[in-house]
Amino acid sequence: MKSESILKILIDSGDYVSGQQLAERLGVSRQSVWKGIKALRENGCQISSVTNKGYRLESLPSRLEGAAVKAALKSKILGNTIIVLDSVGSTNDYLKQLGNEGAQSGTVVTAREQTKGKGRLGRSWQGARGKALAFSVLLRPKMSPSEVGEVTPLAGLAMCKAIHRVTELDCMIKWPNDIIVGGKKLVGILTEMSAEYDAVEYIVIGIGVNVEQTVFPEEIAFKATSLLLETGRHFDQNKLLAEFINQLEGEFSANNLSLTPSALDEYEKRCATIGRSVTFRRGERTISGMAVGIAEGGRLKVMLSDGSIRKISSGEVTVQGIY
Ligand code: BTN
Repeated sequence: MKSESILKILIDSGDYVSGQQLAERLGVSRQSVWKGIKALRENGCQISSVTNKGYRLESLPSRLEGAAVKAALKSKILGNTIIVLDSVGSTNDYLKQLGNEGAQSGTVVTAREQTKGKGRLGRSWQGARGKALAFSVLLRPKMSPSEVGEVTPLAGLAMCKAIHRVTELDCMIKWPNDIIVGGKKLVGILTEMSAEYDAVEYIVIGIGVNVEQTVFPEEIAFKATSLLLETGRHFDQNKLLAEFINQLEGEFSANNLSLTPSALDEYEKRCATIGRSVTFRRGERTISGMAVGIAEGGRLKVMLSDGSIRKISSGEVTVQGIY
């Protein structure tokens, strides 16, 4: 008897549901319903019970719980398996290991604490227990390694939409995939893959969201923000993760895992880098120009002082006026 099925019914109802109704709808005994309710309570769900009325969900757990994520999921493939760890080095590394062992596409790993979170370009990613949402999604798309760059922008768009639905915040994207609000970084995305030279075996999209932090380490304090700092409110990380998975599946099915012209257009509208002076490195050289758009494959189009256009596909870009 899956306790998340009970939770889903209680969430959808928003009111009291009798033990008898739960048992009938799930095709299980009253005893199983009772056990499921007990498990949910032990996992932090507050559920009241009133004689002759039944059970009502009063509040979801504030910490990550698999049942609470699954109860809010609407997706069909992504999130088919959700693994919630109490503590892990890096959710990306953990999921890559599962990927090597044959885990199915759509598997999601999240952890209440990440002790060796990884950022882009070999950096570390920090997030104290309970303060940050860290998770990774495994995909097994039929594509060549050169096409993988199209998947991360779709994940960025999905995260902007999920954040808007849960918090009402309007986010922008700093190319290639930092999600920012008020010019500060709220979300980081690190996509890794395992591939043969012409075919992807799997992709792991790892996402870190600053949720509850009010102070950041000195070296990033000037450029980092959190949902709590931006809104003054606390948000349910289970709901945010589920909403992201729902949105990501929507983006993938609408765009067939690639940056279609409409996704590209949407990405461009959200891209805070466009219209700003940027500096990037090519080998030993530092090149400056104006970011003017997003090209196929999610590359940044930069106009140099001689009017020529360079298309950049990766690496560090310094953007004037953001961070
Ligand atoms: C960045 O540098 O902006 C990317 C940060 C990505 C952090 C996330 S947290 C979940 C996943 N696991 C990791 O080790 N890193 C990513």
